[in-house]
Amino acid sequence: MRTAPVSSSGGDYPVIVGAGVAASLKERVHELFPGLSRLGIVSNPVVWSLHGTSILKSLGTDLRTVVALHPDGEPAKHMGSILVLLDRFLEDRWERRDPLLVVGGGVTGDMGGLVAGLLLRGVPLLHLPTTVVAQVDSAIGGKTGVDHPLGKNLIGMFNPPRAVLSDPGFLRTLPIVQRRAGVGEVIKYALIGDRALLSLLTERIEELVASDFHAALWEEVIFLSSSDKAGVVSRDEKESGERMLLNFGHTFGHALEGALGYSGILHGEAVALGMLSAARISGAMGLSDSATFGVIRDLVKRAGLPDSWPAGVAFEAIAPYLGRDKKASRGQVALILPERPGSVRIVRDYDPDLLSLGVFT
Ligand code: GLY
Repeated sequence: MRTAPVSSSGGDYPVIVGAGVAASLKERVHELFPGLSRLGIVSNPVVWSLHGTSILKSLGTDLRTVVALHPDGEPAKHMGSILVLLDRFLEDRWERRDPLLVVGGGVTGDMGGLVAGLLLRGVPLLHLPTTVVAQVDSAIGGKTGVDHPLGKNLIGMFNPPRAVLSDPGFLRTLPIVQRRAGVGEVIKYALIGDRALLSLLTERIEELVASDFHAALWEEVIFLSSSDKAGVVSRDEKESGERMLLNFGHTFGHALEGALGYSGILHGEAVALGMLSAARISGAMGLSDSATFGVIRDLVKRAGLPDSWPAGVAFEAIAPYLGRDKKASRGQVALILPERPGSVRIVRDYDPDLLSLGVFT
């Protein structure tokens, strides 16, 4: 088991990565919360039917658990679901010292984190992420939130957890298409600046997305990516500089998800396309060469991710969502553009006509 430490204004916390983390849940929660007698769990029915029994078993019988499930999927990520989850804990006469353990992927993590921040003005939060995207990205860094009809993640708060417990064993039961989509976020870390991860992916990306689960390889990839995320959010928790680089691939990715009504494409697939969009714009601005686009496309293709825009989604369909990006300032979105594999930069001044190059076949 290895730990990536995170510094946060709300208190430092560890990201603990390793096979067996979930099995040691009881020891970990009692270590973090001495005298603990009640634990809230936020999850969704799909994750809970797969892992609920083993999680409750590893927590043991001397702890009272209150489980609140929200409907699965991005369409459930709205304030209505948050109110239902809050009801469940308030009805149980929740107290401020009682922690919430959030078990699931990115949607559950964002919602559970928000519930923990709102409930009684804040109760302790623990993340037990069960997807690649949640383990390498969304469970680390304190972002929580829900969607609004005007855009994704527009309502939320920073609410750092007390610990992130990442067990790559959960990925065994993840549908292969989701495992593969998660690799979109992993490629992002490699391209932003993790040379060791870039070499590993260049050598072994097919093994990573194979239907056979390569446990040791996944553990290494989850640890390297988690360490990358932990480092960035420790240096720039509130996203005033470096953390914006993590948005690489997300400007066009989020816009595509928005244009498709947050269905029909997985987040990591949209991010993969978004990185290619950014590379095209960067190439047109003379900030990178065609070899950079080639390296990104090669990794994306080898991971089995889409490498051209879905038919029928024109630039006009995604354009309104680009301006709604949270990184937009006075309507112009800051672009995160690659310079070469392993280096990206923030670009605020550019010709808006170049944005249409981001949609390509
Ligand atoms: N997912 C990007 C961030 O946490 O900043």
